[in-house]
Amino acid sequence: MKLKTTPLSERFGVEVHDFDLSKVDATGYHHLRAEFEEHSALLFRNQSLDDEAHIRLARLFGPIEDRLADERKTGETFSVPQVTNIRDDGKLTDEMDLHTLNLKANMLWHIDSTFLPVPALTNILVARIVTETGGETQLASSRAGWADMPQNLKEQIRAKSLCHRYSHSRSQISPELAKLPMFHKWPDQCWPAVFRNPVNGRGALYIASHAFKIEGWDQGSSATLLGELASFITQPEYIYSHKWRVGDVLIWDQRAVLHRARPWNYAQPRRLSSLCVSLRPEDGLDAMCQSV
Ligand code: OGA
Ligand code: MN
Repeated sequence: MKLKTTPLSERFGVEVHDFDLSKVDATGYHHLRAEFEEHSALLFRNQSLDDEAHIRLARLFGPIEDRLADERKTGETFSVPQVTNIRDDGKLTDEMDLHTLNLKANMLWHIDSTFLPVPALTNILVARIVTETGGETQLASSRAGWADMPQNLKEQIRAKSLCHRYSHSRSQISPELAKLPMFHKWPDQCWPAVFRNPVNGRGALYIASHAFKIEGWDQGSSATLLGELASFITQPEYIYSHKWRVGDVLIWDQRAVLHRARPWNYAQPRRLSSLCVSLRPEDGLDAMCQSV
């Protein structure tokens, strides 16, 4: 089986054509996974993935992340997380309420779950309700950015580790948001600054809005270098900006891609279903753990 693909941007990402994600089996997954390792981001249009099929697809990549497991009451079961400004009662969240502020934290360049003891391998987003304008999701290839980075900048960070904290990204949006208990459930996690893909050996800068310091450095000097590194890898030539249509499915490799949401008019509803899959030892987690 040869997948039909076209590039999403010059440096990374492909759209996969004529592929029904609701019917993917082990062989289909094997082919998808090869594209994922090589191109870092996969787009599929016109899909009809219900929650069950979304979960089935995610499980092929690995264990589904469940950040709310400890908050659920007995009898409550897992449901697919929604990235949305639509409340349970159907009304839209107010621009300045904590829920909207948390959505705004997604607008900082990040990698999902670097603040968890086991970070994410991928996020599989399914577009349910989209806006006419704004609300794009942007991806930046931290692999292409790292490959192009000047040696003197690389040398400053190559053998170091970055420490990540959930509340740090939230504190850049609102101190009140950052105080919520949900952002203080995990101790700081330090990861090597470069994530090496175990299949093809290519490295990528492993940096996120959650990174608050370089291990062993003070926060002030860390912030300066972290800012410089993040600015380099998020230059326009490393970015793919995705304008959503209902039925789109976007899958990316968190080991090689940063992402962020773009603002939209909050008087308009937007809803994406999101399943993060956790890294397994063979995805490079083992090597990341051994070098810290
Ligand atoms: C996420 C995320 C971006 C978006 O689901 O983790 O950052 O565009 N989403 O909503
Ligand atoms: Mn995210």
